[in-house]
Amino acid sequence: MDRAAIEAIKERLDIVDIVRRYVELKPVSGRWMGLCPFHNEKTASFSVNGEEGFFYCFGCQASGDIFDFYSHINGVEFKDALEQLAAEAGVELTPGKVDPQAAKRSSERKIFMDMHEHAAKYFSRMLKLPEGREARKYIEGRGMDTSVIESFGLGCSTDDWQGLEKYLVSKGYTAEQGVKAGLLSQNAKGRTYDRFRARLIFPITNLSGRVIAFGGRIITNGEPKYLNSSDTPIYKKGEHLYGLSTARNSIARTKRALLTEGYMDVISLHQFGYTNSCGVLGTALTPDQVKRLSGFCSKIDLVFDGDAAGLKAALRSTEMILTQGVSCGVVVLPDGEDVDSILQSRGAEGFQVFLDKARDGLEFSLETLQKGYSPREVMDWAQGFLKRMTSASLRAFYLPKVASGLGVAEAELRSVFSGALNAPVPQQQNTVQRDQPRAATPVGAQVKDDKYFLRYAVKHPEYVVELSERGVAQVLTSHWGKTLWSKIAAHSGQDIIPLLDDSEKRFYAGCRMEEALSGEDLEDEWRHVCRVIARRRYDMGRKKLTDALRRAQAQGDTERVNAYLKVLNDSVWRDDEQH
Ligand code: UTP
Ligand code: MN
Repeated sequence: MDRAAIEAIKERLDIVDIVRRYVELKPVSGRWMGLCPFHNEKTASFSVNGEEGFFYCFGCQASGDIFDFYSHINGVEFKDALEQLAAEAGVELTPGKVDPQAAKRSSERKIFMDMHEHAAKYFSRMLKLPEGREARKYIEGRGMDTSVIESFGLGCSTDDWQGLEKYLVSKGYTAEQGVKAGLLSQNAKGRTYDRFRARLIFPITNLSGRVIAFGGRIITNGEPKYLNSSDTPIYKKGEHLYGLSTARNSIARTKRALLTEGYMDVISLHQFGYTNSCGVLGTALTPDQVKRLSGFCSKIDLVFDGDAAGLKAALRSTEMILTQGVSCGVVVLPDGEDVDSILQSRGAEGFQVFLDKARDGLEFSLETLQKGYSPREVMDWAQGFLKRMTSASLRAFYLPKVASGLGVAEAELRSVFSGALNAPVPQQQNTVQRDQPRAATPVGAQVKDDKYFLRYAVKHPEYVVELSERGVAQVLTSHWGKTLWSKIAAHSGQDIIPLLDDSEKRFYAGCRMEEALSGEDLEDEWRHVCRVIARRRYDMGRKKLTDALRRAQAQGDTERVNAYLKVLNDSVWRDDEQH
């Protein structure tokens, strides 16, 4: 971990400013409060401590520093949060071990991103020039308004074969770089030319809103109707969702996402107020995409075309979503329509009717299957569905539902599948490991006792040294407590949040949010803490002696027995003397 960079970033960026981009914060008795973006709530229990640089939700205990907030809200890993915030703060990251390959890849990625930025500018400017007249007419005909044209950065390309190529070269790039970045194509003779010609251009962005690829729709007639960027070092098909960077705030706020298939569908949904919409981008939904979305929503409503292909895609996608533990609804549209056509012809109210009637994902799947597939296929599906559940508890949750949906006895289904279910669950392909497994919240009496001392230490850091001198380390009994204490003791006065795991963070931030004691209350409490420490040490000492005594008795060593008895008799707890 790049501690120096972490500190420098925290110095330059205010966590309150960052949080404010996603959450409306109001000052409430000396702290910032708002609606928690990590769980659904109506009264604000999300609080941000700007001075100390952390957040804590009194409702769901989400907590951490600026990096935790940024990575959770954007569904990115810590490493990416660090990089992005470093860029924002203008802090240079010192690469850990210099891996020349990695350094080369990273500088190449930066070049490709910059090229895409230039290309996006080129396309969007083209849409405003006389050359963009056809495209403008087309957009107008499709009922798109200027606000979405702007927010989605739409553009167009002319049928010029070297327009973008010349532009990129004028910006100092080579045609070869353009080909590698997926912006130019190259024929067998080695001649390079613009990949996207005579198309309406949809920039595809990553979660930070940087353009990493393009989709292009033919303006007049021609094949293919949509052309997407091919895979490049900065864009991999199936990893991204169209419009997610624009939709993410709204998704995080409502905990729900609308997922659709087409570029136009996403844009129309936004235009008509469904700002939590994004699109799958020309492939079947992938586990990666579901992971990305599930980072900030608990329910995904699928809005696919009302034709056979759309239903089939919905069936596959539902399975993908449910097996990852996210709720799923299916909005069934009339055959021959898509969201865009519904919105354009019937407006938001017209679409809302269908949205309100969204089917439960599992019910929809079971019904669709039973209608169109043989019993054997249905049972195969059920087996696969249960097998692919990403956790045993999810499987336990869905098994009775699947059984009842199919009209078979639960025990029957269980026994049919028990062999299959015990087999290892095949790893779904193509997944990115995003979240560390969440550290379990420790429970138990020992931890509870330990928390008493730790709470005091966290709330009153000025006492850490004294606590340590009084031997608090010896009286902590749980592994959790000891670990946290060692971090606190070793980094007293420094920012320790980056060193904490999830459960420690929750505890730490929760304590820091509590009102610290002062004056006599503080002194009283301190006396009590000291007494409890002393008493614990006394009890532990006695326990050691009685253990030794018992061993001596067992060995028949009277001399040692008597010696221990004497010490035990002499050491009587006197409340007032021990501290
Ligand atoms: P559709 O053919 O349903 O198009 O493809 P659409 O989005 O309704 O487009 P309009 O309304 O005619 O403009 C749905 C999605 O499938 C991908 C695109 O992402 C498209 O938006 N697609 C389709 C391709 O990638 N390539 C194609 O050739 C066609
Ligand atoms: Mn359409």
